[in-house]
Amino acid sequence: MPVSVAPVSELGINDSRKVSFGRYPALVINTGEGLRAYKAICTHFACIVYWNPDSEMIECPCHAGFFSPLDGSVISGPPPEPLHVLTIEIIDDVIFIKS
Ligand code: FES
Repeated sequence: MPVSVAPVSELGINDSRKVSFGRYPALVINTGEGLRAYKAICTHFACIVYWNPDSEMIECPCHAGFFSPLDGSVISGPPPEPLHVLTIEIIDDVIFIKS
């Protein structure tokens, strides 16, 4: 079931939204190279990750895990796996995410 995030026009480059996606939060980022969406759950011990527009990385506050906004891959820190990628759909200029 797709979940609506925001109108495309509201998410500027380097901007993000966190929305509820089932039982967990999801993170949607306008990377400048396109929209990306991930489960906002760190793959280390399941802390909630967030987008840092200054560092331009997805960060985990628990043990300094850093992820790439482009593909969710681990840049540094203890997370053993990339973030779980969610699918983005644009319907009538609104961003939706789904599994
Ligand atoms: S829970 Fe994210 S780095 Fe440990």
